[in-house]
Amino acid sequence: MAETLSGMKRTHMCAEVNENDVNTEVVVMGWVQKRRDLGKLIFIDLRDRSGILQIVFNTEKNSELLRKAVQLRSEFVVAVRGMLVNRSNVNPDMPTGQWEVLADELRILSKAQTPPILIEEEVDANEAMRLKYRYLDLRRHKMQKNLILRHKVAKTARDYFDENGFLEIETPVLIKSTPEGARDYLVPSRVHPGKFFALPQSPQILKQILMVSGFDRYFQIAKCFRDEDLRADRQPEFTQIDLEMSFVDVDDVISINEGFIRRVFHDVLGVDVSTPFPRLTYKEAMERYGSDKPDTRFGLELVDVSDIVKNSGFKVFSDAIARGGSVRAINAKGCGAEFSRKEIDSLGEYVKTYKAKGMAWVAVEENGLRSSITKFMSDDEIQGILKRTEAEAGDLICFIADKNEIVYDALGHLRLEVARRLNIIDDDKLNFLWVTEFPMFEYNEEENRWDAKHHPFTSPMDEDICLLDSDPEKVRAKAYDIVLNGVELGGGSIRIHDQDMQGKIFKLLGFTEEEANSRFGFLLEAFRYGTPPHGGLAYGMDRLVMLMAKTTSIRDVIAFPKVQNSSCLMTGAPDVVDEKQLKELKITTVDQIGTQERINEE
Ligand code: AMO
Ligand code: AMP
Repeated sequence: MAETLSGMKRTHMCAEVNENDVNTEVVVMGWVQKRRDLGKLIFIDLRDRSGILQIVFNTEKNSELLRKAVQLRSEFVVAVRGMLVNRSNVNPDMPTGQWEVLADELRILSKAQTPPILIEEEVDANEAMRLKYRYLDLRRHKMQKNLILRHKVAKTARDYFDENGFLEIETPVLIKSTPEGARDYLVPSRVHPGKFFALPQSPQILKQILMVSGFDRYFQIAKCFRDEDLRADRQPEFTQIDLEMSFVDVDDVISINEGFIRRVFHDVLGVDVSTPFPRLTYKEAMERYGSDKPDTRFGLELVDVSDIVKNSGFKVFSDAIARGGSVRAINAKGCGAEFSRKEIDSLGEYVKTYKAKGMAWVAVEENGLRSSITKFMSDDEIQGILKRTEAEAGDLICFIADKNEIVYDALGHLRLEVARRLNIIDDDKLNFLWVTEFPMFEYNEEENRWDAKHHPFTSPMDEDICLLDSDPEKVRAKAYDIVLNGVELGGGSIRIHDQDMQGKIFKLLGFTEEEANSRFGFLLEAFRYGTPPHGGLAYGMDRLVMLMAKTTSIRDVIAFPKVQNSSCLMTGAPDVVDEKQLKELKITTVDQIGTQERINEE
């Protein structure tokens, strides 16, 4: 039987003992990290949330203590009372390495089976095991540190936004579907059979309605749900630091958020970030980096060579331009000398993932060029390219010719891949930037219509309103993203606050008046009763914490994340439910339909 705490009270967390506690009695509690048995002396490393403290059992003095101490195994939960003393052989690698507790009393509060994964800093268990036994994985110092960091980010957000006049207002989780471009998670209604709530993809519409209600400044740490394909920085259920402000324009939202970033990095990490952050328009970001979330910690910028090669004998180039596309290049500095033919070919394979048909290249050597394409090109073209790309001996110029969209995407990713292979990304840099003036619409080729690039409530730029009817593709929006080291940390916009403009945008997006009314009628109606100009932004909090913790997966900063196929390995969710529950909801599952069909056939 496990012992109880009866009469015993903890005096210190393990790693919170200090100089002043030496030669006093302490009571500490926690898990046995490891045990060393030297016969007369038994040592354990005792672990709690704060860290590790060494305990010594001098078994010669106390045979009752000996009987218990020999039973100890990894992960047993114990309470220890004893004197804190200075250690003769100080362990400089341990924050508490100067001291140890000479145990007088030991209680075994809970025994533990041998854990299926080791509770060590660098685990070699695969991630599936770590997630199945998440409670053990979360005992690791690194994971505890990540979640403590997350707590501090949330707390700082609350403090900062509170100090700046924002009110934290909760919005419901059972709502009517809001469009953020992903698939909704649906919740069936028992009271209204055949009808469904949607889980919010974000609190977007509700926070706008709070502005209509006059709350002026809102924020919330909000759970959002999106049924989309997962990646390292995407979860089906994630958290936003979400905010909205009234009577503001783009610069006001940007400035309050630069203040927040400065504050959170200072208070949580002790790092001073300097503001204002650079701003790039979407167009410039695409032209220079091939991405709307550029990593500016290194160069390798894109260079447009279309004008040089538009009449080239190399048809891959001239044809792409004739079809309205472009030819762009990056100068992979030093790669011509460094990369073997095989490595260059593997870059060619890499860009195919991004729909490029191939990658032409020129390696610049001390005494000439090595290339698959120069034989098709004139000297003027070649010299023009070398000059434009500032090529020097040892460089590798990589080209993609295609529609702009593919050229940007393929070269944008190639740039990152080359930087990774050259190992030139400085992990200590924090390159924040704003990407502004996003296009208002993007063409949906599958459905043959315009989609909102951000969301349908985003305001067009004043100077582009006149283009809405004639050239929707040219209209820029008052939308902005905040980017850190190539990760989209957050995004937002100034909203439309006029019902006529909102109606017009819905129409351009292909909603009939009826559809717009049935989906967003309540918003359009709200706008009729006096609406302040407003705008806001939402951070992906998981991504912010991930970057602050210097990890590469948001799963490392979420206590109970889901895996690639959107399931939880620890609890087994999603799972089947009782027939009775389904009946109440008047829901028939695919399985039941299958059974019914078999019955019908028989
Ligand atoms: P958006 O859709 O850009 O904007 O989302 C804001 C930020 O949320 C994070 N994010 C995610 N993080 C983890 N997993 C996901 N599946 C995921 N999807 C998005 C990103 C992103 O920048 N309502 C608007 C905000 C606004 O306009 O105010 C919105 O939700 O970091
Ligand atoms: P090919 O004429 O198909 O043998 O291609 C000659 C070179 O051009 C090869 O290195 C191809 O990888 C490259 N290439 C083919 N298509 C493209 C393209 N769209 N953009 C850039 N290079 C290409």
